Amino acid sequence: MTGRDQARFAIPGVIDLAHEWVGNALSRFADTLPLRALDLTVGNGHDTGRLAAAVGQRGVVIGCDIQVEALFRTSLHLQSIGLMERVRLIQTDHAHLSGQLGSTWHGSVHAAMANLGYLPGGDKSRVTRGDTTEAMLRGVLPLLTLHGLLTVIVYSGHPGGAEELQVVTQVADSLQPSLWRVAQVSFPGRAHHSPTLFAFERMR
Ligand SMILES: C[S@@+](CC[C@H](N)C(=O)[O-])C[C@H]1O[C@@H](n2cnc3c(N)ncnc32)[C@H](O)[C@@H]1O
Repeated sequence: MTGRDQARFAIPGVIDLAHEWVGNALSRFADTLPLRALDLTVGNGHDTGRLAAAVGQRGVVIGCDIQVEALFRTSLHLQSIGLMERVRLIQTDHAHLSGQLGSTWHGSVHAAMANLGYLPGGDKSRVTRGDTTEAMLRGVLPLLTLHGLLTVIVYSGHPGGAEELQVVTQVADSLQPSLWRVAQVSFPGRAHHSPTLFAFERMR
């Protein structure tokens, strides 16, 4: 969605909605220092930059991507907005990230974002996949603190995208409603490949 669309529509697109919800979640922890956030697919660094701004001066963001090109673009973006010092970038498959973080991260993440798919303007073959996305979800959900929020944006238009959407839907359906509040936002009637937003909030 372009900046022009944002001004034109009352209903926000999924990226804006994800940032709004993540901002809401982080603001509820404003007295908890330091705020901790994860970007599970840094890509061009836009989400990482927004998270780094939202966690504030003493907050920490860990961002990962499988591609060194994405980490490079993200560090350039963070430097351009002066927020590099709040962010640690790791080249890894997000399926393994939870195992690579120290035990102090377990149950202490306030917000996490995963904008799936491929790097815009990059190698389209380095795309997120259902199996690793499922492993990422199973690893990251336990990292969330009480009322911590994970947002996931899924694109179904590329090869493998429909299967990935099915996997995320299955994970969402498998969670106990007493432990997890889950939302799914899509745009019926629009191009059937428009992205879907999932949000997972830990309730207990
Ligand atoms: C749509 S882009 C992310 C956009 C980004 N959040 C931004 O604000 O610009 C998806 C990213 O996921 C990365 N990716 C694909 N598979 C991955 C995996 N298994 N683990 C981590 N990152 C992965 C790609 O390299 C790509 O950079």
